[in-house]
Amino acid sequence: MIQGAGKVAADGSPAPAAQRGGDRAVSVNIQGVSKSYRTLRGEDVQALDTVDLAIEPGEFIAIVGPSGCGKSTLMMLVSGLIPATTGTILVGDTPVNGPITSAGIVFQRDLLLDWRTVLDNVLLPVEIRKLDPASHLQKAKDLLASVGLSEFEDRYPAELSGGMRQRVSICRALVQDPDLLLMDEPFGALDALTREQMNQDLQRVWLRSRNTVVFITHSIDEAVYLADRVIVMSSRPGKIADIIKVDLPRPRRSTVRSDKRFIDHVEHIRQHFMALGILKDD
Ligand SMILES: Nc1ncnc2c1ncn2[C@@H]1O[C@H](COP(=O)(O)OP(=O)(O)OP(=O)(O)O)[C@@H](O)[C@H]1O
Ligand SMILES: [Mg+2]
Repeated sequence: MIQGAGKVAADGSPAPAAQRGGDRAVSVNIQGVSKSYRTLRGEDVQALDTVDLAIEPGEFIAIVGPSGCGKSTLMMLVSGLIPATTGTILVGDTPVNGPITSAGIVFQRDLLLDWRTVLDNVLLPVEIRKLDPASHLQKAKDLLASVGLSEFEDRYPAELSGGMRQRVSICRALVQDPDLLLMDEPFGALDALTREQMNQDLQRVWLRSRNTVVFITHSIDEAVYLADRVIVMSSRPGKIADIIKVDLPRPRRSTVRSDKRFIDHVEHIRQHFMALGILKDD
C-alpha cells in the first residue's frame, strides 16, 4: 500500500482544503518573484515579472502559458536549481536558497538510466539519498503496480514504450514520498491516447499520496482534468494572467471532459490564448 492514503470523501468529492494534503505535503509561497537571464551576448532577458502565488499543502496546480513565457524557469526557481533575481520562495516555512532535496522532479524527457532495470531506476533516489533500501523496495513495487508495470520491473528502459518510460520516471519521483512534486511537461512527447491514460494514472497515484504538485503543460484539457487550480500565464516576461479554480469532484473519469463545467473552463482558458494572439481563428 502506498503511504498517505487518499483523502477523498466516499462520494468522490474533494476533501476540504485544510484536510487535503498528505501527511508531509507542503505549502509553496512565491512572493514577488522576477527572473532575468544574462545571455551569452551579455543581454538581459526578463523571463518572469513579479509572480505571486500561494499554493496550499496537497494542492494540484497546473500552469499553462505560451512557449517561452517562463514556465520552466518558475519550476527551476521553486526547485532551487537557479536563483530568483528578486522576490522570495518559501517551501513550507523554509526559504529556497539552493537545490531542495525533498522535491520529486519529473522532466520533459524521462532521463532514465539505460543500464539499470525499471525497478532499479525507480530506486535511484533512495540510493542517492542513502535511504533505507528494504523499506523502499516494497514502495517501489507498489508504485509500479499502481501504473500497471509490475511485469516490467526487471526490464530495461530500451525495452519500454515512451508512455511506460514516463510512468517509470513518475514512480521514481514518488518513491521517496516527496512532499512536493514538480513536473515539467512530462507527457509532452506522448500520443493523445497514451497521454489520456497517463492523466488517469497520475490522478490515481496522486489521490493516494496527496502531495503538493506543480504541473506544467501545454494542454488546456490536461490542465483542467488534473488541477485544483489552473494558472494561466501571459507571454514573456511571464506574469499570472488568470487563476481558474476547477471544482469538479475526484476521482475525475475521462468522461468528465464532456461535463459542461469542464468545457466552460477549457473555453475560458482558450479565450485567454486567443486574446494573447497565440490561438487564432482563420
Ligand atoms: N539560461 C538561459 N539564458 C538566457 N535566456 C534563457 C535561459 N533559459 C531560459 N531563457 C529564456 O527565458 C524565457 C523563458 O524560458 P522558459 O524555458 O522558462 O520558458 P517556457 O515557458 O518553459 O517555454 P516552453 O513552453 O517552450 O518550454 C525564454 O525567452 C528563454 O529564451
Ligand atoms: Mg519549458
